[in-house]
Amino acid sequence: MDFIKETQRRRTFAIISHPDAGKTTITEKILFQGGVIREAGEVKGKSGTKAATSDWMTMEKERGVSITSSVMQFDFQGLRVNLLDTPGHKDFGEDTYRTLIAADSAAMLIDAAKGVENQTRKLYEVCKLRKMPIFTFANKMDREGKEALEIVDDVESTLGITCFPVTWPIGMGDLFAGLYHRIENKVYHFTKGQEAPEVIEVSSWQDPKIKELCREPFVYDKFLEEMELLEVALAPFDEQEFLEGKISPMSFGSAKFNWGVDIFLKLFAKYAPGPAPRKTRSEEIVEPTLKKFSGFVFKIQANMDRKHRDRVAFVRVCSGQFLRGMKVSHVRLGRDIRLSYANQFMAQDRATVEEAFPGDIVGVTDTGNFQIGDTITGGQKWMFPDMPRFSPEVFAKLNIKDPLKRKQMQKAVLQLGEEGTVQIFVDPFVGIQDPVIGVVGELQFDVLLYRLNDEYGLNVKLEKQPFSVARWVVSKNKEQPTAVGKTIKGGTLYKDISDNPVVLLNREWDLRWLEKENPELEFKSTAGLE
Ligand code: G4P
Repeated sequence: MDFIKETQRRRTFAIISHPDAGKTTITEKILFQGGVIREAGEVKGKSGTKAATSDWMTMEKERGVSITSSVMQFDFQGLRVNLLDTPGHKDFGEDTYRTLIAADSAAMLIDAAKGVENQTRKLYEVCKLRKMPIFTFANKMDREGKEALEIVDDVESTLGITCFPVTWPIGMGDLFAGLYHRIENKVYHFTKGQEAPEVIEVSSWQDPKIKELCREPFVYDKFLEEMELLEVALAPFDEQEFLEGKISPMSFGSAKFNWGVDIFLKLFAKYAPGPAPRKTRSEEIVEPTLKKFSGFVFKIQANMDRKHRDRVAFVRVCSGQFLRGMKVSHVRLGRDIRLSYANQFMAQDRATVEEAFPGDIVGVTDTGNFQIGDTITGGQKWMFPDMPRFSPEVFAKLNIKDPLKRKQMQKAVLQLGEEGTVQIFVDPFVGIQDPVIGVVGELQFDVLLYRLNDEYGLNVKLEKQPFSVARWVVSKNKEQPTAVGKTIKGGTLYKDISDNPVVLLNREWDLRWLEKENPELEFKSTAGLE
């Protein structure tokens, strides 16, 4: 197989959205277009399982289902597309941030009735920091929602990105007549209950044929009015600005009725970039087309098989060809390991993978060697940047009645920390035996307790801590950094799982005091995102 050709045809992306915007629905439609599934309703275990705790537990029990939807691969117009799934619940935001690091572009899905919602805004921030190219899809046009111009304005003013509408809706809700494609000069006329649209060639947006498609004159008048405004206001599409994440090609549609999903996919196929070069911690640029293999772990899914307590580490291939059974260098551990069992995921099927290329994701069986953020290479000492960590908002210590089980609890918590389920903070004077656990949302604690009980047989109680903020401590002076020692003036210094110094505060306000006491230090709300 031609390595360069295979690399260049890879496209790896993730969909970001607020819960309920329609991510599961559009994923299903995309997979359908990609020929992976033959019938709607095949992507199981998602709809309705994300909001309630008990449902999440059920989902976890059916882990075979949730894992297979972690990465979905399909071919479209000669491209090999990897769609990375991102958990929908807000408490699992961190997982989503890490998934975004493994992607090369993102599609932002917006509920047209609600505009930009909170979770989308937070996820978009990560895309922005990484200057990721981003597509926008305004969903649920089959319902009455915000005016299309209002959605554009909302995206632009809330996120500070410029939208470039590629399609423009003609009406909405019951009066939705279709989409005008500004580049193709075509109208896609949709009818409920009819899967494929009628595609009509038009001379321009002013073509009278469009009027005939509108059931009410005001729908047409409005379309004309909006198009007039757009044509005056919009500059031509600048691909470079898109690649830098400054301008987002925008399309409209309805995932539920499969309206505009194919248009989105074609747009994606045309503009989405292939595997991006990755920078190492020492600022070396690793080009995807380099023959030397490299990749990093962005997700760990544990205890797939309860009997063996093994885990699957998801590796994003960054350069070189991956071959099953290959020996790689585990850079953090400084030793070689053999990747014997590797899987690739295709909708519901888990297939053994013989080879993979940059942009692909492989799941390798792990017996405890991997942490999130680990780099593996074909021998080079490269290390890709640590995964970003965000300040938890809820903190607790763990309490176990049986003192004989304390050691086992520590080990289990450390394992779950490595997987990124929770964050662990250790007071260097106390040690790992009594860590503080931090989570972004309470649901993560429910999951932690459930898993400690279910997988490790430990009956653990939470002891809530008064903290609500974590700040990573770094020197302000980058050239000659001040060493951050074991103590800090006016506070207690903890270490996170990667040994980075952190302070835990009861209130964000307390930070002012610390900043005053330690003017040479900076207190950052994230780690690993520069
Ligand atoms: P999520 O993964 O982003 O959380 O959203 P999901 O696809 O589960 O969709 C959330 C709800 O929105 C679902 O309704 C789904 O049918 C609906 N939906 C998705 N896309 C569209 C669309 O384009 N138009 C309309 N009108 N609705 C859409 P539900 O009532 O929760 O479930 P269901 O009974 O319809 O499956």
